[in-house]
Amino acid sequence: MTSGGFRERMAARRIGSDSKGSDSVVEPAKTAESGGGTSALAFDFGENWDHYSRTVLDEPRLAAAVDSLAGLVGTDRLKGARFCDVGSGSGLFTIAAGKLGIAQGLGFDVNPTGVEVARRNLGRFAPELADRIDFRRGSALDAGFVGSLGRFDVVYAWGSLHHTGSMWPAIETVGQLVEPGGIFVLALYNRHWTSPLWTLIKIVYNLSPGVLRKVWDWLLGSLMFLATWAVTGSNPLRKERGMEFWVDVTDWLGGYPYEYAGVDEVRARMDAQGFDLLEVRPPRVPTGCNEFILRRRPA
Ligand SMILES: C[S@@+](CC[C@H](N)C(=O)[O-])C[C@H]1O[C@@H](n2cnc3c(N)ncnc32)[C@H](O)[C@@H]1O
Repeated sequence: MTSGGFRERMAARRIGSDSKGSDSVVEPAKTAESGGGTSALAFDFGENWDHYSRTVLDEPRLAAAVDSLAGLVGTDRLKGARFCDVGSGSGLFTIAAGKLGIAQGLGFDVNPTGVEVARRNLGRFAPELADRIDFRRGSALDAGFVGSLGRFDVVYAWGSLHHTGSMWPAIETVGQLVEPGGIFVLALYNRHWTSPLWTLIKIVYNLSPGVLRKVWDWLLGSLMFLATWAVTGSNPLRKERGMEFWVDVTDWLGGYPYEYAGVDEVRARMDAQGFDLLEVRPPRVPTGCNEFILRRRPA
């Protein structure tokens, strides 16, 4: 698989762009399923990714992301693959996939700051991959945009589709990106008896002014620190995937729209959409993300 001209091809078929070349994006919508998420309440993930990238992200964290991606997806599946990172955030995992030898990588995110940050991180950590990796602004809810991107051997949607405001339609739309026989990696918040309570906390958090949010971060973050320690028996500051505890606290408290699903629900829905569930990895804490490795059945 050759990578030459990938950026040009992607640019040529940039969908979701108007005639002036600016990105047109379907924003998170208000839906019954999302618990009433609206753009007004939606959390600005881009700001948090900018903070993470400026203050925390470094080579060892990138190396941790590379290890995590290799451990979850497998290096054999990534080598020479066409890779799509849905809700790419800081771009860390598209860059990690680049380090693991993908042929082409596309990361897209609805948040314009996130896309800017991802491009900046590519220039900072992997300029040699610039001809193989591209970041775009676009929404997983925009069937026109998603349909324009082609097919990928590996589609990686880690922790993003439960924040769209319309999780199941987003999963169905993004599933179309997976080449028959290809791999779909999904990480979705687990359904737990406290999940409705967290929906409420997130709404209150997003309605709070900036100073109050800092107080919530500190107060609830400290409680989360203790609860995580009690449940896992390990130091919560030791984060996986190259992440950082306090950045994750803000991401978790602010992360709205918010949806969740149990393993059996995901298995049944994905089976109906033509995906076999190969593996599930449970979260460290009960409200965390289940990681699903699915294979699209050959046509
Ligand atoms: C918790 S972050 C996960 C980022 C990244 N996947 C990772 O593993 O670090 C969720 C990301 O999903 C993005 N997102 C939310 N709604 C989206 C949508 N409709 N289309 C694409 N991205 C979306 C957010 O902007 C945010 O960057």
